[in-house]
Amino acid sequence: MKNYKIGVVGLGYVGLPVAVGFGKVRQVVGFDISNKRIKELAAGIDVTNEVTSYELAHTNIQYTSDPEELAQCNFIIVSVPTPINTDNQPDLTPILSASKMIGQHLKPGTIVVYESTVYPGLTEEECIPVLERFSSLREGVDFHVGYSPERINPGDKKRSFTTIQKIVAGQTSFITNRIAEVYELVVTAGVYKAPSIKVAEAAKIIENTQRDINIAFMNELALLFDALDINTSEVLKAAGTKWNFLNFTPGLVGGHCIGVDPYYLTYKAQQVGYNPELILAGRRLNDAFPEHMASMIVKKLHAQGVILQDALVTVLGVTFKENIPDIRNTKVAALVRELEAYGVSIQVHDPHADAEEVYEHYQLRLSKESELVKSDAVVVAVAHDEYIEKSWPYLTTLLAKEDGIVVDIKSCLDPTCKPALVTHFNF
Ligand SMILES: NC(=O)c1ccc[n+]([C@@H]2O[C@H](COP(=O)([O-])OP(=O)(O)OC[C@H]3O[C@@H](n4cnc5c(N)ncnc54)[C@H](O)[C@@H]3O)[C@@H](O)[C@H]2O)c1
Repeated sequence: MKNYKIGVVGLGYVGLPVAVGFGKVRQVVGFDISNKRIKELAAGIDVTNEVTSYELAHTNIQYTSDPEELAQCNFIIVSVPTPINTDNQPDLTPILSASKMIGQHLKPGTIVVYESTVYPGLTEEECIPVLERFSSLREGVDFHVGYSPERINPGDKKRSFTTIQKIVAGQTSFITNRIAEVYELVVTAGVYKAPSIKVAEAAKIIENTQRDINIAFMNELALLFDALDINTSEVLKAAGTKWNFLNFTPGLVGGHCIGVDPYYLTYKAQQVGYNPELILAGRRLNDAFPEHMASMIVKKLHAQGVILQDALVTVLGVTFKENIPDIRNTKVAALVRELEAYGVSIQVHDPHADAEEVYEHYQLRLSKESELVKSDAVVVAVAHDEYIEKSWPYLTTLLAKEDGIVVDIKSCLDPTCKPALVTHFNF
C-alpha cells in the first residue's frame, strides 16, 4: 500500500474520532476552520466528549487551522457539516468552501474522500468541479475522489468509528480498493465496497431517512392512541412480542442528522421531478410533534385543575439526544416555546448541555440542579443516564404535590416503581 499521509478536514463529532483513529497508526494532519476548536484539541480537550483526554494524548495528530498544512497530505478526508437552511434546503456552503480550500492545496496523486452526509450525486456533481477548478488538476487523472459515509452514533461508547463497518466507494474499482486499504488500517469491523459513489451516498442517507419515517409512524400512533385513550408504550410492548415488529418509539426528532438528512434526499428527488410523499409526510409529522406534545401536556395539567398561567413545569434535558452535550436543532426548545405559548412557566435543567450555548442559540436559561424549585409537572424530555438512575425518588422531590404529573417522553422510567399518587404520562 502507498504510504499515504492522511489529513482530516473538519474535526467535529465525526472528524475527530476519525483523526484519532488514524492518528494511532499514522501521523495525521487535523484541520478545522475554528481556531477555538484547534486550541482546545491541542490542549487535550474535546468538548463533544466523543474522545477522552487520554485518547487525545495517545494519538499522533498535528492540529492546525492553516490550510497550507494540507499540502503535505495525499489522502484527505472531509467531515464538515451539511446543514439545511431555514427553507429546509441543503446549505452546501461548508462542503463547497472546504472543497475550494482543499483544491487550492491539492497536489497530484491525492485521494479526497468525503464523509459528510450528502444526497446522491453531490460529491461528483458539486464537489469534484470545485476541486478541479481551484487545483487546476483533473479528477481521475491527477487526483481521485471517493465517498465513505460516517455512521457513528455520538454518545455510543460501544459502536465507534473503528467498530462500525465502513462503506467505501471510489469512481473506479482501483480507487475503491485504495480507499478500502486505508480504512482497513483502523476499522476492525471491515469495509464494504459499494459499486459507486452514488450508491454509497444513497445508502447513508436512507439509513437516517428510514429512522425518521419509523419514528414519524410512532408519533402518529401516539397522537391517535392519545385520542383513543390508549397508552402507546403498552401497545408497543404488546406488539413487540412479534418477532418482526420493529422497535421504534415516539419522540422528538432533533439534531443534525435524522431531522436534516431526509431533506437532502427530498431536495434531490424534487430536482429530478419526483415527489417524495412518504419522506415529506414523515418530516412534517416529526417537525410538528413538539406542538402536539405541548398540547397533550397542557391537557394533563388542565385535567388536574392546574391553572395554566400559574403553572410551573420542569423540563429535564435539552440536548437533542441522551448523554451528549449536542444541542443542535434540539426539539426540546420548540417544546418549551409551545408550553410557554399556553402561559405556562418553565424551568429547564440539563447536566450535559453548556448553559451559555443554550442561551445563545435558544435564549433559554438553564437552571442548575440546586436552583430548581418544586413544580406542577416534570417533563423528562431527554433520557440522560443521570435522570434514569435517580428516577422516581428524585422526580418526586421536584413535584410540588404528591399527585403531581411526570411526563416521560422517552418512556425511560419504570412505571412499576412509580409512587402511587403521581400521575405518570408516557407515550
Ligand atoms: N454527528 C453525527 O452523529 C454524524 C453521524 C454521521 C454523519 N454525520 C455527518 O458528518 C458531517 C459532519 O458532522 P459533525 O456532526 O461532525 O459536524 P460538527 O459540526 O460536529 O463538526 C464539523 C466541524 O467542521 C468544521 N468546519 C466547518 N466548516 C469547515 C470548513 N469549511 N473547513 C474545515 N472545517 C470546517 C467546524 O468548525 C466543526 O468543527 C455532516 O455531514 C453530518 O451530517 C454526522
